[in-house]
Order: sequence, then structure tokens, then C-alpha cells
Amino acid sequence: MSKPVRVAMIGLGFGAEFIPIYQAHAGAEVVAICRRNEVELNKAADQFGIEKRYTDYAALLADPDIDYVHINSPIPDHAWMSLQALDAGKHVMCTVPMATTIDECRQIVEKVKETGLKYMMAETVVYSREFLFIKQMYEKGELGKIQHLAASHPQDMDGWPSYWEEMIPMHYATHVVSPCLGLTDALAEYVSCFGSGEVRESIAKKSGNRFAVESCHIKLKDSDVSAHIWRFLYDVARQYRESFDVYGTKKSFEWTLIENEPHVLHTAKKPEAEIAEKIEVPDFAHLLPAEIQKFTLPSEIHDADHLSFVQGGGHGGSHPHLVHEMVSAVREDRDPWPNAVTSANWTCVGLCAHESATKGGEIVKLPEFTLQS
Ligand SMILES: NC(=O)c1ccc[n+]([C@@H]2O[C@H](COP(=O)([O-])OP(=O)(O)OC[C@H]3O[C@@H](n4cnc5c(N)ncnc54)[C@H](O)[C@@H]3O)[C@@H](O)[C@H]2O)c1
Repeated sequence: MSKPVRVAMIGLGFGAEFIPIYQAHAGAEVVAICRRNEVELNKAADQFGIEKRYTDYAALLADPDIDYVHINSPIPDHAWMSLQALDAGKHVMCTVPMATTIDECRQIVEKVKETGLKYMMAETVVYSREFLFIKQMYEKGELGKIQHLAASHPQDMDGWPSYWEEMIPMHYATHVVSPCLGLTDALAEYVSCFGSGEVRESIAKKSGNRFAVESCHIKLKDSDVSAHIWRFLYDVARQYRESFDVYGTKKSFEWTLIENEPHVLHTAKKPEAEIAEKIEVPDFAHLLPAEIQKFTLPSEIHDADHLSFVQGGGHGGSHPHLVHEMVSAVREDRDPWPNAVTSANWTCVGLCAHESATKGGEIVKLPEFTLQS
């Protein structure tokens, strides 16, 4: 495909961040945008100079000038919007999570197989500079054999849109699942999860979940390694964190406890006082086409006041990497990473984990359709 990929952006909260990146990318153009509120739609379209404006998603999908949709709508809308887009012959990039039920994940995986269209879950963590740094060390053999993985995502959601009150911590777990599985390109085989503490009654009623914290072990398929992840959304005192720790035989990486302080690298067999070293993680903009390299910088974040960036530290410079991966996959006619099966496996870890928590930690196996990548 030599012509630029024609993208439509759906949802213009977090979604608006990606528009200038697509507009700068030589292989892409933003041909349309969609949001329900017409006044806000026109404001964004004028700001970014986009002609085609849709308040109705179905009308957008009927537009033959669109190759793929990038979905950034609220979580309950991810699955049906992805399915309708695939039915309309559009490739899909969708923000996390893929869906909120195992059955919806299955439907998306099946539809991608049937149609041959591309699907990518836009997981920011596996394109963050920290993940790319750790992955590079792993691939060069600097970490040695991986012995254990751990990730945490505490986030106090008071102040976010109220639909978050209906969410269950492990139903939004891809930011912790994805680095643990993505580092060695493993899939999850089964999980065991414990719930801990309790949220205030109003949240428990809305979400149907009473646990404040959910803490889960993941068994990696075809591997002797397991991972530990934990999450909360409400009623626990802790600063935002999206951490990833990797323990290898030669080196281990531990995330800082306090946002914006240096991470720590441990090296085995050194004198005790020299084992731990604070490090600066380099940027990975050089992996990108020159015209979008600047977008890894926090200064290029379009809406720096959005709580997502205040809390998420600009998502580790991941946005231009996500855009470039999906645009390249469509143009090169290859699967993006993560593809539909991998996205389903990552998403279903959280869905199975919550099921396990409701059964007192019983082991729950990942569904078969998420294991055949
Ligand atoms: N690190 C990350 O991966 C990350 C960070 C932030 C947000 N997100 C995800 O991005 C999504 C959006 O988050 P947000 O904070 O921007 O939410 P938001 O509520 O501020 O924005 C949602 C947008 O979707 C639009 N929308 C909703 N329903 C629609 C419909 N039927 N048709 C067209 N447009 C519709 C709304 O008009 C709005 O513009 C969420 O799913 C969230 O999980 C991911």
C-alpha cells in the first residue's frame, strides 16, 4: 500500500492526542473524526483542520474513504464499536481494554480471522520507553534468565468520569498484564487472584465488586515463570503508579516507588553496596520516522492537563510508537503487535482474574481462543 492510510478518530478526549501524530506521519492522514457532542466535535475539527465530522458512528462506518478507525470511546463502547467497524470492512485500533467480557473478546478474534482485517489494542505500556529499555536489555541477554515478573497499577479514580465507578479493578488490567507477558512474548495460561479489603458501598453497588484491591498470579504458558500483578481503583491511599519489575539471573529492574524519581537496576555478584544503581531510562524516538520522533516528548502532549497525563507521566512516550505500529501493519499487510489474539489474552487475564477472586482464588484457565497466536 503506497498511499497514506486514511484514519478516522473516534472519541476526542484521550483520542485527540493522537491526531497531530497521524497528521505528521508521512504514511497516514486523518480523514474524519467522530464524537457525539456536535459543538465539541466542531471545535476539535476546526482546531485540527479536519473536514469530515460525524456525530453518528454508523454514518462514519459507511464512509468508503476510511481505511481504519482508532477508537478512544469509553470502555463499555470498545467491543461493539470494534465489531461494527470490522463488519464495515475497516481495520481497528482500539484503546484498552479490548472488551469487558470474554465473549466479546472471542467475537472480535473470530471476526478478525474471518475478515483478514487488522486489529490492534493500543496498549501504551508496551511502547513506553521503560518497557522498550527493559526489552532491549532482555534481547541482548543482559538480564540473563527471567525468574519473575511483577507489575502494579494503583490509581485513585475519584475525579474521573463517573462510568469508572462501574469498573472492576481487574477488568482494566492490561497496563500490568501486558509488560509481564509482552517482555518474552508469552501468553497467559491460567490465573489465581485474591480480593482484599472493600470499597465504599456506593461503588460496590455500581460495580458489583466489593474488593478494594485485586492481586493476581499469572502462570505463563510454555514457561517456568509466573508473574504477580495488582490493582485498585478506589479507597486506597497511594500515588498513581504503572510499575513493572523484572527479576533476571544477571540483572533486575525495579520501578521507582515515587513518580518521576529514578528507577533501579540491580546487578548480581557485585559487592552488596554496589548491587543497586539508580538509572536514567533513555528515550526510543530513534525507532520512529523522523517526522514523528518529537511526539515521545512530554512537551508535545497536546492536552497536558488531562488527568490521564498528570497521572500517567505522558504514557512513557508511547503514543507515536502506537501510531507507527498500526500504520505500518496496515501498509505492510502484516499483523500489528499486539494482534487480536494477543490483545484478547491480555484482556482476558483480567476478566479471568476477577472471576477467580470471586471464587476465593480458584485457578481459572484462559480460554482456548486466546492461546493460539
Ligand atoms: N494509557 C491508556 O491506554 C489510556 C489513557 C487514557 C484513556 N484511555 C482510554 O481511552 C478511552 C477514552 O478515555 P477518555 O479519558 O478520553 O474518556 P472521555 O470520556 O473523556 O472521552 C470519551 C470520548 O468518546 C466519545 N464518545 C463516546 N461515545 C461515543 C459514540 N457512541 N460515538 C462517538 N463518540 C463517542 C465522547 O464524545 C468523548 O469524546 C477510555 O476507554 C480509556 O480507558 C487509555
